[in-house]
Amino acid sequence: MTLSHSYDVRALSPFLGLEVRGLALSADMSDESFSVLHDALVRGAVAVVRDQQLGPEDCKAIGRRIGKLEPHSILHYRHPEHPELSYITNVDKDGNVDDYGANERASGWHSDGSFKENPDAVAFLVSVAAPSRGGPTEFTSMVRACETLPDDLRQRIHGMKAFHLRGAGWKGEAKTPPLTEQQKATGEFNGAEHPIVLVHPWSKRETLFVNPSHTNSVVGLDKAESDALLDALYEHSINPEFQYHHQWRPGDVVFWDQRCVMHRAGRGTPSGEKRIMLRTMVTCEPHHLN
Ligand code: SIN
Repeated sequence: MTLSHSYDVRALSPFLGLEVRGLALSADMSDESFSVLHDALVRGAVAVVRDQQLGPEDCKAIGRRIGKLEPHSILHYRHPEHPELSYITNVDKDGNVDDYGANERASGWHSDGSFKENPDAVAFLVSVAAPSRGGPTEFTSMVRACETLPDDLRQRIHGMKAFHLRGAGWKGEAKTPPLTEQQKATGEFNGAEHPIVLVHPWSKRETLFVNPSHTNSVVGLDKAESDALLDALYEHSINPEFQYHHQWRPGDVVFWDQRCVMHRAGRGTPSGEKRIMLRTMVTCEPHHLN
């Protein structure tokens, strides 16, 4: 596509994250703007656009251009008028500290919804209120992790599958609120097996698809062997060189690809400061579940 004007795209870290300047995100953004954004997401796995003003309708429209909107499983944080969207917040509706939101939620490395038959593909957060320091979102590149695996480990995991179950990571790492009886009855949260190495449907690059919060075990191995293998993969994957930490400012919008990035909420938000984001999650065609 020939672009009608130039966008400034710069790398945020050696292996992960592109910031795009000159983009105005909105429900009716042009095909050109959307393709610049999408390209940054494909190439960077994390795409950052600053100084935006996005409301819920904008978020839903952009989300639908990427895939199918996927409501969050924790009902409490869903947007009251737009349940497809949800909040990340460290304050409750009365302005008091939300303990779970401030201290527990998303504190372990994870990939949202990896426990579903068709896992979440992309999420994006719009910063509503950001602390003056601390409280970044931390991302690590699972593509870089995959391509730098020692040969013997890489060969060993090829063709292997892992079983993912919501909040039931190999060391019980996630602190995830329980599901409602109605959610359990859907069968949607019974867990799913996925290949440990995926070929990413967009970039065609190999990526590791396991995470400490929801990957329970390696299929076909006993618990000790499975734990040891997952341990080795995580230790390798959270190499600081593979990471990008996003320090939030109000108006930031950060997109990431769940299929090739793990993320977690960083600590250090000063007490009394608000950290609030509006979250949109989407699924795409389940073509990566090979
Ligand atoms: C998330 O886990 O979806 C967001 C992490 C964060 O709060 O920074």
